Amino acid sequence: MLSLDRVSLSYGSFRALHDVSIHADDGELVVLLGSNGAGKSSIFLTMSGLNRASSGSIRFGAHELVGRKPSQIVADGLVHCPEGRKLFPGMSVLKNLTLGAYVHRSDSKGVKRTLDEVFELFPILHEKRESPAGSLSGGQQQMVAIGRALMGRPKALLLDEPSLGLAPLVVKQMFEIIARINKAGTTVLLAEQNAYAALNIASRAYVIEQGRIVMEGGRDELLNNPQVRKAYIGA
Ligand SMILES: Nc1ncnc2c1ncn2[C@@H]1O[C@H](COP(=O)(O)OP(=O)(O)OP(=O)(O)O)[C@@H](O)[C@H]1O
Ligand SMILES: [Mg+2]
Repeated sequence: MLSLDRVSLSYGSFRALHDVSIHADDGELVVLLGSNGAGKSSIFLTMSGLNRASSGSIRFGAHELVGRKPSQIVADGLVHCPEGRKLFPGMSVLKNLTLGAYVHRSDSKGVKRTLDEVFELFPILHEKRESPAGSLSGGQQQMVAIGRALMGRPKALLLDEPSLGLAPLVVKQMFEIIARINKAGTTVLLAEQNAYAALNIASRAYVIEQGRIVMEGGRDELLNNPQVRKAYIGA
């Protein structure tokens, strides 16, 4: 179980998050919908310990995450795949992937096993394992970013706009893969502007506007909600 309870966050004097409460049960796929600047990435950065909440609590299993070190949070099993991929473009695909296993570096057999699983999920990355990550297509780079996160062996995965800037066919494949990762048992929190595709693979979703959760509901409820359709689906 992953939960935020009345989490607030400020950047200097600007309050980016206001009493945000959300949760994901083990094995769930939960979507965070919100337009540019709503606070989706701020929520993820606060969960992964890169931002410090000014108040509220973040629980993951038995742990309180506020004040916990980012590396410890990864070791706990909560892994963040950041917006914009954040790869090392000059380093090989293999090196980029291996970086994701940093917290498991003493378990080289385990790392090798996880790498095999990532290559099974993304065969193209095996083919391109010696190529500089920056030479890959946008979709392949997103695969590297997700693969690197999987190398951390997440129990829960925070995916920040994985479909951003990708061609429609590639977006479709990306959502299929995310659904597959979730079906294999990983809890997924997915921040997306591609609301229709994201809701389709989700069980529940939250809508965030200006740092506040303004709506929450099951997939079908939100897919059929006129406000959600107007603001995020365009129908
Ligand atoms: N490091 C920062 N310093 C100051 N303000 C910030 C910082 N990061 C984000 N903000 C502000 O906080 C608010 C929330 O930003 P955030 O990046 O969390 O939104 P988002 O929902 O992820 O948007 P997008 O869809 O564009 O990625 C915005 O008003 C943004 O300008
Ligand atoms: Mg963002």
